[in-house]
Amino acid sequence: MENNGGEKNKKIKIKGLDHLSVAVPDLEKAIDFYQNSFGCAVTNTKILENQGVKIAYVDLGNVQLELMEPYGETSPIKKFLDRNTSGGIHHFCLRTEDLEGALQTTRQEGMQVLGDGSASISHHGKKFFFIHPKDTFGSLIEIEEDKNDH
Ligand code: CO
Repeated sequence: MENNGGEKNKKIKIKGLDHLSVAVPDLEKAIDFYQNSFGCAVTNTKILENQGVKIAYVDLGNVQLELMEPYGETSPIKKFLDRNTSGGIHHFCLRTEDLEGALQTTRQEGMQVLGDGSASISHHGKKFFFIHPKDTFGSLIEIEEDKNDH
């Protein structure tokens, strides 16, 4: 069947890598490690109560590394750390200018969006969602809205 270039063939347009994210059992120790062993600048620690994580960002030069420690009993990264006790790469985040379009395409392609299936708003006011690793060759992929006004 000929495709008509309609809705169904829309792609998730990626503008670049926003951050890599690592789950760690002890955020302070991890910050110390990146500051002292690599000499990287690290942001202040932030608690994101509704996402169940305590985070800080490491400046790697061309990309940020997100360090996450579980926060609270229901933290979504707790199970990950039970399996990977010293920590490990948890997800990577890609930027897109059209977040709602990306979400629609993800659903149309039959990929599973984590949570209730809609986008959430990050602590810096950007929309984002996660695609289940079973649909992405094993990587948890976060898709985040690309906007520069933050
Ligand atoms: Co992230």
